[in-house]
Amino acid sequence: MLDWLISTIPLFKIVHIAALAIWCGGLLALPVMLARHDPNGTLDDYRIIRHATHTTYTLCVTPAAVIAVIAGTWLIFLREAFVPWLFAKLAFVALLVVAHAWIGHIVAKIAEQPGFHQPPRPIFPIFAVLVPIVAILTLVLAKPVLNGNVFPDWLLVPRNGQLPFEVPS
Ligand code: HEM
Repeated sequence: MLDWLISTIPLFKIVHIAALAIWCGGLLALPVMLARHDPNGTLDDYRIIRHATHTTYTLCVTPAAVIAVIAGTWLIFLREAFVPWLFAKLAFVALLVVAHAWIGHIVAKIAEQPGFHQPPRPIFPIFAVLVPIVAILTLVLAKPVLNGNVFPDWLLVPRNGQLPFEVPS
């Protein structure tokens, strides 16, 4: 039974990587698409681009994000990857999710206030997405040994007189 589960790791990894390629690619494309909502263009052009951003966000990017997270969570248990680099990676995944929600908020605002809501310049959401992606890829590909000793000793050891009680040595 366990061997059978272990043999599914490559499959989950393929699903994880395929889904996150769509997720991350979509998050990078959406800010550029959002910037093309030109209130001075024709109504038809506006409708087409609005429909495209809405479909991309709701039917491609968000489902891909859910699949990437589910497959990644399975991989944690299958690979028994309870290691510091993974927790650091998850912190950056949380940032990516915040950027995802921000882009979703812009998509919703453009739908609710067509022609009035001015999307931010694409460089800002692209930057918000690119920083966690680069950090995640660095962590997951380099798998650095983060043993928790990133602080100097003097920051980890309580000093005499700092606490209102005795610290056993
Ligand atoms: C909640 C979200 C996520 C979880 C729980 C998760 C978890 C994992 C786990 C456990 C692995 C297997 C690591 C190993 O085989 O040693 C993995 C592989 C990988 N993840 Fe994620 N991940 C998540 C999101 C992401 C995102 C957003 C990216 C990219 C931006 C990403 C990129 C990768 C890559 C490239 C691999 C393959 C690494 C390799 O095989 O060496 N993951 N992920």
